[in-house]
Amino acid sequence: MSKKIKKILLKKNKSKIVCLTAYSKAIAKILDNFCDIILVGDSMANVLYGHKGTHKLSLDNIIQHTSSVRLGVKKSLLVADMPKGTYENPKSAKTNAKLIIKKTGCDAVKLESNKNNYKIIKFLINEKIPVMGHIGYTPQHKKKFKIEGKTKNEALKLLKEAKLIEKSGAFAIVLECLSPQSAKMITNKIKIPTIGIGSSVYCDGQILVTDDMLGLSGFYPKFVKKYANINRIIEKAVKKYTRDVKLKNFPSKIHNYNG
Ligand code: KIV
Repeated sequence: MSKKIKKILLKKNKSKIVCLTAYSKAIAKILDNFCDIILVGDSMANVLYGHKGTHKLSLDNIIQHTSSVRLGVKKSLLVADMPKGTYENPKSAKTNAKLIIKKTGCDAVKLESNKNNYKIIKFLINEKIPVMGHIGYTPQHKKKFKIEGKTKNEALKLLKEAKLIEKSGAFAIVLECLSPQSAKMITNKIKIPTIGIGSSVYCDGQILVTDDMLGLSGFYPKFVKKYANINRIIEKAVKKYTRDVKLKNFPSKIHNYNG
């Protein structure tokens, strides 16, 4: 196990784990000063590529953006999402995970659970590929958004799934849109850290899509806290630039290269 992963594991029950997503070097460089984990999430399908869901994202898309993010990350643990269709069976999961790691230099991969693929996680771990799990609302496998773990029965099923993933050797699990009771129970009953998104304060750490919390993506569900309004800042800057160009205030002499 790498030192970076050990450090994350040691945070359980001690201090909260800070995670965000990045798709480029520039953003990654800023996050690296604060985050324990930086995820190159397949949310880039919606956020960057404007797709309706995450299904069309390719392995090349993840490899290109993770390579860019790698250039900005020195301290944080860098995790890359495995796109839908790239881990259908142990053999393809291994080939594709190894390709992502070899081409990008990321520290681990994340794959979304579909209840049975904990066996794939186990296979990857045996191949010395560090894996992060992901349960609850998993957009690659579920058509409709729903908060999970609201009933006792549902919460117990999620706990079983989390335990299987833990037993398979994953170093952490993302809990996406789970009821607070369910997130609390899982966090208390497993030894690896839980990273919540829309799953209450009871998780060991939190993750958000950076573009959402910066007010850039235009996607603000209830669980997103908007920490900035970057859209507004960009709008103001572009408005000023447009005015300057039209009034011939830009470029001025200081921007010229004199021969
Ligand atoms: O793709 C992504 O950004 C994610 C996070 C929302 C956890 O999986």
